[in-house]
Amino acid sequence: MKGIVLAGGSGTRLHPLTLGVSKQLLPVYDTPMIYHPLSVLMLAGVRDILLISTPADLPGFRRLLGDGSRFGIDLSYAEQPHPNGLAEAFVIGADHVGDDHSALVLGDNLFHGSGFSDLLHEVVGGIGPDRDGCVLFGYPVRDPENYGVGEADAQGRLVSLEEKPAHPRSDRAITGLYFYDDQVVDIARDLKPSDRGELEITDVNRAYLEQGRARLVDLGRGFAWLDTGTHDSLLEAGQYMQVLEHRQGIRVACLEEVALRMGYIDADTCYALGEKLAKSSYGRYVMDVARSFAAAAARNGDR
Ligand code: G1P
Repeated sequence: MKGIVLAGGSGTRLHPLTLGVSKQLLPVYDTPMIYHPLSVLMLAGVRDILLISTPADLPGFRRLLGDGSRFGIDLSYAEQPHPNGLAEAFVIGADHVGDDHSALVLGDNLFHGSGFSDLLHEVVGGIGPDRDGCVLFGYPVRDPENYGVGEADAQGRLVSLEEKPAHPRSDRAITGLYFYDDQVVDIARDLKPSDRGELEITDVNRAYLEQGRARLVDLGRGFAWLDTGTHDSLLEAGQYMQVLEHRQGIRVACLEEVALRMGYIDADTCYALGEKLAKSSYGRYVMDVARSFAAAAARNGDR
């Protein structure tokens, strides 16, 4: 499976913050926002990832992430020169995706919740009859009119889908994480721009819905799907991460830790990555994670 992170756009709702820097490079407490969507793909076992951004912002992502090898992933980059819509990711990324299945995650989407990686494995493994088609995730929100909104039947099949409806039929917002079979590039290429002149991801999803091949998985209570679209929601997302860090001593979307736990890098490599950042509490956390991982592995080896 191939991955795409879409980190384009001009972040107008966050101006002036985003006049000088990409929205997806802004801090969410102690990590750059882009670590969050990247960690989601890594947790899903996706290691061949294309990051799409604007020509002006790509250098910042390259500086931060390089070729991804330090996290045990293969990261490449492509430009989206104009904000032509989310579905354009599959036109730009057609060669990257090839004949494979793919996962798209929006660069400003933050997920956290117990059991999330198991859920991702289930989706990627295509357990059950849904190996082809698409899988979307629904999350109950207070303001569904600001999102794509979906409804599912008792079997979890998507039965309706609307983009930012004035009168939503459900409170299930469609999150910015999408899994597709090998048809998605053809579907995206056939799209016509919407009234606002964009290739809409909702139209891609509607094509799957019309074929009866779209599944909606609920992320319910106990999950956090956080928004970063406004000054307040960005601050709140940071505070959520800060609370977890202060209360439990855990960090969400620490790529070194995810890489270690997924077996993409070993504990020595992880420790060395932490050491390079040792002046920050983030770096010391990475070193601690590597140390405890190695100690646990040694204990298990002794048994
Ligand atoms: C986009 C999608 C929308 C989805 C949202 C998730 O909206 O069009 O369906 O619910 O991402 O973040 P945008 O944020 O581009 O307005």
